[in-house]
Amino acid sequence: MVKKMKLFLTGSFITIIILIVLFSYRQSIFSINSLPFDDEQRGLNEQIIIHFSHVVAENTPKGIAAEKFKALVEEKSGGKVVVQIYPNGMLFNDENELEALRDNKVQIIAPTISKLTNSLPNWQVLDLPFIIENNEQLKKVLNGETSDSLLQELEKINIKGLTFWNNGFKQIASTSPVIGVEDFNGMRIRMMSSDILDDQFKLLGAKPIATSFGDVYSGIKNNIVDAQENTISNIYSKQFHTMENHITLSNHGVLAYAVMMNEDFWNSLDTDTQKIITDSFEEMQDWQFERAEQFNEENLSYLKENSAVHIYELDEPIKNEWKEKLKTIYTQYEKNVNGHYLSDLLKELNEPDS
Ligand code: LMR
Repeated sequence: MVKKMKLFLTGSFITIIILIVLFSYRQSIFSINSLPFDDEQRGLNEQIIIHFSHVVAENTPKGIAAEKFKALVEEKSGGKVVVQIYPNGMLFNDENELEALRDNKVQIIAPTISKLTNSLPNWQVLDLPFIIENNEQLKKVLNGETSDSLLQELEKINIKGLTFWNNGFKQIASTSPVIGVEDFNGMRIRMMSSDILDDQFKLLGAKPIATSFGDVYSGIKNNIVDAQENTISNIYSKQFHTMENHITLSNHGVLAYAVMMNEDFWNSLDTDTQKIITDSFEEMQDWQFERAEQFNEENLSYLKENSAVHIYELDEPIKNEWKEKLKTIYTQYEKNVNGHYLSDLLKELNEPDS
């Protein structure tokens, strides 16, 4: 009798345990919607993959901004949206990234504004030499109405403009000192492919050569170019200063990025996902601008510590000589491209801060 009772109790205990386990399992199966997205399971939900291609190193203002964007979007979407980043031109370079975006081979790129000026000439306004003088102005301009209208112009070429990112001011890195305008004479200068940059260097007496960013290192090494204009973070992260060890802090132009998406891909996204993307850009905007300034400052201090690198500043009279040589570029832009963008930008720059 006692034996039977024991058997009955053990049986009941095992049955209860089995029921508890089964119940918990069913509960978890039917509550999948509350679980984080599991990218090893298929068919439960549609995962969205965004391929983001860019041409610079990871430890640069654009490189870290792409990483920050990835982290924000993936977190906000609970892993439903995945951003895969391809830095250093490993997938596409300056020559083919726009086409790759249009063909939806990648969904986001962030080229320098200058690289769009051949398709959208109005954008040249942001490349006018010495138009923007300091970081405060740069931030104001890239977040302002003129830039917003420029970004909308991407619609003309069926691209969705998302935002502008910052990489500060361009300097001259060269194999021999460039201080006075006469030092530009006959100098072969690598630049991004852009008519206004071509005009700028011709007015200074140099010989501009347009190349892709990925070809700059070999161009200097193989003695095809003597100099380039670029930001300190791009010069330092690619070690250009090991060959172009004269750096002139001219701040003559700005380098900003237009972050853009394939338009059909954007239109295919549901409104929640679109909002996650725009919110992420908005949330990181100030951070991106500050990190870009810090990067350029920190990298400049490393260059200053390097005794093989010679750094020059332009004093006011010399800077005015550069400006004098370059001033016709403003009238050319106003006359041949778009006077209204130039006057809007100048107005924005002169408006007192609110
Ligand atoms: C360059 O080509 O020098 C730059 O546009 C590279 C970049 O993306 O910062």
